[in-house]
This record gives sequence, C-alpha cells and structure tokens, in this order.
Amino acid sequence: AAPLAYQVIPSDHARSDAQREALLAGELGFGRIFTDHMVSIQWDKAHGWHDAQVRAYGPLALDPAAAVLHYGQEIFEGIKAYRHADGSIWTFRPEANGERLQRSAARLALPQLPVAEFVESLRQLIAIDHGWVPSQPESSLYFRPFMIATEAFLGVRPAQAAGYYVIASPAGAYFHGGVKPVGIWLSRDYARAAKGGTGAAKCGGNYAASLLPQQEAYANGCSQVLFLDPVEGRYIEELGGMNVFLVYRDGRIVTPALSGSILEGVTRSSILQLARDRGMQVEERKIAIDEWMQGVASGEISEVFACGTAAVVTPIGQLKGKDFAVGDLDAPAGAVTMAIRRELTDIQYGRVPDRHGWMVRL
Ligand code: COI
Repeated sequence: AAPLAYQVIPSDHARSDAQREALLAGELGFGRIFTDHMVSIQWDKAHGWHDAQVRAYGPLALDPAAAVLHYGQEIFEGIKAYRHADGSIWTFRPEANGERLQRSAARLALPQLPVAEFVESLRQLIAIDHGWVPSQPESSLYFRPFMIATEAFLGVRPAQAAGYYVIASPAGAYFHGGVKPVGIWLSRDYARAAKGGTGAAKCGGNYAASLLPQQEAYANGCSQVLFLDPVEGRYIEELGGMNVFLVYRDGRIVTPALSGSILEGVTRSSILQLARDRGMQVEERKIAIDEWMQGVASGEISEVFACGTAAVVTPIGQLKGKDFAVGDLDAPAGAVTMAIRRELTDIQYGRVPDRHGWMVRL
C-alpha cells in the first residue's frame, strides 16, 4: 500500500513557547502533561487505513455504542523520544514496538497498522511537537500510540471500524521519588493473565485487571504488584506494567521466559542483549517464587530490578506478601542494576555509540 498522506491541521490553541518551557522546566512526573497535537488515522473494513491527520490534542468524539466502550477492544504501545546533546531527537527500536502493536492487534482482532506507518506516525507528531521533547537529564517524550474499535455495534464480533491515535507526554521518572528502590507486593489472590488469554498482548484490559491488586500493593506500602503464572501460581511472570530480572551473586542474570502470558518488553530484550555484551550468563526460564524468596534471603540473589519503557530500569528493594518480606527497601540500588540502567540510557541519550543500531532519528 502507498504511504498514508497526512493532513496537518495546526492547533489554534497551542501553548506559547514560554508556557511550554515553563511546563518542561517543572517536575514532569509521568503521564500528566500532554503536547499540543495528536495523530489520528481511521480504518474501516471497506477502505483500510485512511484519513491520517495531525491535529489539535483534544477529546475524541465516539459513538456511545463504539465497541471499545463495551468490549474493551483496545491496544496500546509505549515508546519514548530522547533529546541528544546536539538537540537532535531520536527514538529507540521503534520497529520492535510497531511489530508488537501488530501482534497485539492480531490477538484483539483489530486491524494491523503497517510498521512503517507506525514509525511515520511518531515522525509526524515530532515534526510539529518537537519543542515538547524535554532536555532535563533522564527526561523524554513518552509516546502513547493506541488503537480502539470505533464501530457503533453491540454485537460481539471484531469491529469493522477502528481508530489509531498517538498522543505524547513529556516524562521524567515513572515512580515518585525518582530512581530509588521500590517495594513489590506479591499477589496470590489475583492473576493478571490466563492461559490462552491476552497476557502477551498490550491491551488495556490487562492493566485494568492489575488495578485492584495494585491497590492492595499501595495499601501495603508497595509500588507494584508481582503476578505469578496463571496455571500453577508458582512461577513469577511480571509486574503490573513491567518485566522483572534477578541478578545472582555468581554473575548470572535471570528473567522469566516468555510464557505466552508475559508482555514481550522491548526494554527486556534490550537488557538481555546488554547483559550478554557484558559477558554475563543470561537465563530466560521459569523462576519459582520460592527461588526469589530463598535467593534474596540467602544472599545468592544480590539484586532484583524492574524494567520497561516507562520504568526504564528500576531497582526493587523489597518483596512483600501477606506473611513475609524479603530484602531491604533502604539498601542502596545494586551496582549491576545501575550499570545496566546507565548503559541503556547512555545509548538512548546518545552518550555512547549505538553499537546495536537501536536508535532511529525522528
Ligand atoms: C510502558 O512502560 O511503556 C508501559 O506501557 C507500562 C505502563 C506501566 C506505563
């Protein structure tokens, strides 16, 4: 198919340079501030993808019968733009996110956006909103591409009309308090995914399912929930919105193998590569929760961390459950965790050569 032609309709209420600079100089946090524009592309069964626009950021008009509002037919992505020291703007492995969006679309019976159009949608938004990519240390512009079923029809079947959108949000640290060890709550009462379910897809429903256990985590002083496998409830899978790694004192680094119910993180796969580059022994396998608990208690496991596009690499200080706690929230972040975080962000911010060819200029 020919590349989509974009209609660009600049916002008539875009913020001034001074207003934008003031927002970007403040505490960015995560997902609270949005840029002036967004991308929208429509799809329907008869016409395919069409009507690509860059237009003012603002509310969507949806028919109240739109399938997304009833049956949750929705998928999304998370990917960042980084400002390098020379002012240029880059993103990280965008094809990997575009391909994952296609796999999520397949699972949720949504149409597939060509990967080249996914990357182009990011470029289109940056072309107009480049001023929103912050330059504070360790900050970025977080893109949130998403696709929703827009057809007004209450029958339960794949929608015949959908919309793809990209919004963008200047972002600092995902967790309150920046990069410091977080506590993780082990959920045994709830699962995030089922066997054969949508766990490997990046769909809103997975995150909705994590909210109640997440509330339990907050109530127990933790920042994220750890979910166990949905079949035996024995093996660790992932956190509500992040993958997890264990670092062993003997130099091994271990993460749960992709099981069909774990999200295939782009950060996860990049860290596996960086760990191999460091000469670490890398294992992707089943990890029983008992291995984590006993390993931390015995000292065999020296570090645990979470990773994701939003979380980057976040040290995990403590694992807590109804009747136990292992680790120490006040202990400093682990050296391997922080070295991997540094290596990854050095590549993303252009501070070292991009030896894997991961960076794409927008
Ligand atoms: C991301 O890391 O990009 C995600 O989508 C996860 C979410 C917790 C923000």
